[in-house]
Amino acid sequence: MKALITSGGKGTRLRPITHTQNKHLIPIANKPILHYAIESIAEAGIKEMGIVINADNDDVAKAIGNGERWGVQIQYIPQEAPLGLAHVVKISQEFIGDDPFIFYLGDNMVIGGVQRFVEKFRKEKSNCHLTISKVKDPSRFGVPDIKGDKIVGVEEKPKHPKSEFAVAGIYLYDKSIFEAVNAIEPSARGELEISDAHQYLLEHDFKITFSEITGWWKDTGKPEDLLEANRLVLSTLKGQVAGMVDNSSTIAGEVSVGKGSKILASHIRGPVIIGENTSIENSYVGPYTSILDKTQLRNSEVEFSIIMENCRIENVGIRIESSILGSNVDILKARGIPKTHRFILGTQSMVELF
Ligand code: G1P
Repeated sequence: MKALITSGGKGTRLRPITHTQNKHLIPIANKPILHYAIESIAEAGIKEMGIVINADNDDVAKAIGNGERWGVQIQYIPQEAPLGLAHVVKISQEFIGDDPFIFYLGDNMVIGGVQRFVEKFRKEKSNCHLTISKVKDPSRFGVPDIKGDKIVGVEEKPKHPKSEFAVAGIYLYDKSIFEAVNAIEPSARGELEISDAHQYLLEHDFKITFSEITGWWKDTGKPEDLLEANRLVLSTLKGQVAGMVDNSSTIAGEVSVGKGSKILASHIRGPVIIGENTSIENSYVGPYTSILDKTQLRNSEVEFSIIMENCRIENVGIRIESSILGSNVDILKARGIPKTHRFILGTQSMVELF
């Protein structure tokens, strides 16, 4: 069995972070989103992975490498233009060959791994095994029409969804999917839709089975999804302090402090993960916060946030909450007069002041 993982797309709903960073490399609990996909596939015993990347950008290939560190082999498959998920499958036919495979959308995160889906796919000898999850807003997703214990139809982003489920971005296929992706036509938005390929399989009497993801699943397309994913991963954190915590600091709950980091006269209430060579001084860090390497927090309070590397947060009078800071961001208190707010913000930045 092989794996095919997506890592392309523009991540428009996550701008400005995605102006300079591929969304699949955004850290959740200080680890790139894509690592979670690779780890859960490796855990299911699948060692040959193909990652589909934007043809004009090798950031993902550079950051992820050849898979050695996970004991797997990773190849990169360039996609020239974002022509849809079924197009991703289509251009990967040579890599997959006749093997069954798991198709994993690299921005999806699921707690509990994928092994259970792989086992069910094998046991039920299906041509296609879908994972589905109950969601509040099915029209944002591929939506299955379920009759009894069978999926009888799949529609992409329907205005009037036929169920309250989304088809999640973890699919298992045998080679019949190639017949489907080679037969379907582009949708109204000009993409080869994976839902249309599923509909094709249904109409041509291929066997589609499914698993419901009853635990937690997220498609990390929007800023609030990142914060929620970060919260969920941190809720399983086992704290470990490698850095230095001075006597006047207090640490409560699960807190990880990386090598070379210093906590001075501060209060950290876990779950919180702090990377390496970061310093926190006279500050409060509240639950569900991830702070990456080489960041400085001084005389400030942060909670329920993701802060990437090399940031400076100093003397900020009000608690920073539900925030995502990309790397090299400074939030500082202005000194002296005039008493002004001063911003140097890139395109599509967002600031909310109290
Ligand atoms: C894609 C698929 C959709 C699926 C979703 C899951 O949508 O087209 O069928 O439900 O992923 O994450 P997109 O995220 O590209 O809008």
